[in-house]
Amino acid sequence: MSPRLSPLAARIAHDGPDPWALHWRARAAHAAGEDVIVLSVGDPDLDTPAPVVDKAIERLRARDTHYTESAGRAPLRAAIAAAHAERTGQPVTADNVIFVNGAQNGLFVSSLLVAAPGDEVITLDPMYATYPATIQVSGAALVSVPAPASRDFHPDLAALGQAITPRTRAIFVATPGNPSGVVLTDSEVDGIARLAEQHGLWVVTDEVYAGTADGGRVPSLGARLPDQCLTVSSLSKTHAMTGWRCGWIVGPTPFIHHADMVAQCMTYGLPGFIQDAALKAFGMRTEAEASVRTLCRARRDTFCAALQGLLALRVHRPDAGMFMLLDVRGTGLSGREFANRLYDSERVSVLDGAACGRETQGFVRVCFVTDEASLAEAARRIRRFAAGSETPR
Ligand SMILES: Cc1ncc(COP(=O)(O)O)c(C=O)c1O
Repeated sequence: MSPRLSPLAARIAHDGPDPWALHWRARAAHAAGEDVIVLSVGDPDLDTPAPVVDKAIERLRARDTHYTESAGRAPLRAAIAAAHAERTGQPVTADNVIFVNGAQNGLFVSSLLVAAPGDEVITLDPMYATYPATIQVSGAALVSVPAPASRDFHPDLAALGQAITPRTRAIFVATPGNPSGVVLTDSEVDGIARLAEQHGLWVVTDEVYAGTADGGRVPSLGARLPDQCLTVSSLSKTHAMTGWRCGWIVGPTPFIHHADMVAQCMTYGLPGFIQDAALKAFGMRTEAEASVRTLCRARRDTFCAALQGLLALRVHRPDAGMFMLLDVRGTGLSGREFANRLYDSERVSVLDGAACGRETQGFVRVCFVTDEASLAEAARRIRRFAAGSETPR
């Protein structure tokens, strides 16, 4: 008799076709030198700042290659705490911080610690494509509350309140959002904090794109709800460090203690040379973030302008982040058909919006943080394709 996998395998499996299949095809074609423009993932075309790379090499040569503290080294945790306090106004110390393997690992650890089989976890639809599996890994059921295009992808707090049941344990949000680029307003954040307080819920706020928002800040759930909020973030986007896997969770100290217990049996700590390089990155945070922010905004504006005026495409201008949503329903195609046919005829890869929820069916998600020449060419190709697909109204 062959052994079987645990129910977890089914909980984190994709339903239906893999939304990333097109992306991986495009990546492989691009790597093979084909004329392909990859706009299907949020990985800035920028280089990690040289002093950060130099620090990692220096530490490697200094043989910083041994085990480290599983929660992260104290100076790095202190630097994360100081940056978080400065950004949000929430007073925290190193004891409120655990350094993890990217924000994705922070979301996973948070999910494991706040929910269990039989529980419900609420998130907004559309959502970052990994959320369903990341939330369901805990055994909890995912309850999604629409933040539809008709509301410019902002949540309806009344609907959020109605979705809360005695089984609800947590609300997951991302601000700025992926795929929408929406920054939750002060009153939305107040409303979410109030609901969480009333019902004794955790809030997990994913702020990996916060550095790209106005002034590098977003209204903070952590500041409003210090004992119930877990703020997850990373250096991936704001320092062009996606491959370094430098993320963290800021939360109440008892939670951080338990997160450390998870780390001890999951990662057993992260490489010391990476941590010291991350510390270097914090030392240059203000300039690094400002330059990524300026660049993201310029590219967003250029790309939005380049796609205006088509009957078949509606561009949703994001507040921040690295993505925008295009409503392709005017072409008569589904998001998946649009993405596949665009790739086949124009060699531009975008993500089918359905990967991010029901509210983005009929949309595609486009990353606009790539070099200007590729963006201009991508916009030309998307226009040509969309113009050819326009259905008479
Ligand atoms: C909303 C959101 N959260 C988390 C992540 C994961 O980031 P990290 O590279 O820090 O794991 C991403 C990556 O694209 C993201 O878009």
